[in-house]
Amino acid sequence: MKILSAEFIGSCARPEQFPDTGLPEVAFIGRSNVGKSSLINSLLQRKGLAKVSRTPGKTRLINFFLAVSDDPGLERFVAVDLPGYGYAKASKELRAGWEPLIGRYLDGSEQLRAVVVLAESRVLSELDQEAIAWLLDGGRSPIVAATKVDKLKMGERVRALRRLRDGLGLAEGDEFIPFSSVTGEGRNRLWTVLKERLRA
Ligand code: GTP
Ligand code: MG
Repeated sequence: MKILSAEFIGSCARPEQFPDTGLPEVAFIGRSNVGKSSLINSLLQRKGLAKVSRTPGKTRLINFFLAVSDDPGLERFVAVDLPGYGYAKASKELRAGWEPLIGRYLDGSEQLRAVVVLAESRVLSELDQEAIAWLLDGGRSPIVAATKVDKLKMGERVRALRRLRDGLGLAEGDEFIPFSSVTGEGRNRLWTVLKERLRA
């Protein structure tokens, strides 16, 4: 599948602003700095589309991107870059503003076909466990991308990925995909899963 074009639709700070495109949506959630914006750029093959930063907490609004592909049945869809959760340094007020926003989006969107939870390969976090439990509870089967897998040494890879997979509390059949925006590992597998969900 080829992405013919990808463009920024807009940023939203409030639910009333969520765009109503009528198109299938895929959302990306995960802790701050886990690599959400990088993964979106890698999937959509556009380097600077979603803003990537070394400073955690860069993405504070919900950003919507429209993608056009050459895939029959999935000509147009929307990728949703959600703010990272659990950014400790963000002020309480900021967090109080955006974490409910994530929940409102995930609960409210009628077009949402897939939620990709990004978890850093080496890090098992309670916040990710909570996010996954919350999704499963809401009847959504999460797709987990274990990010920055390029950082794992060969010798630790199998153990680290097993620890993460087992620790996240996934249900039978939930997808778990080692991913790297640097090497491109996992990109094709993620697309295969996303295409199925987005077309449905
Ligand atoms: P927030 O918007 O702050 O929530 O962060 P984010 O989840 O969007 O992360 P972002 O894509 O901005 O990446 C954060 C940092 O991790 C940047 O310095 C990226 O270059 C780096 N990074 C992202 N993906 C990878 C990866 O697959 N491998 C490696 N080695 N670094 C990565
Ligand atoms: Mg980001």
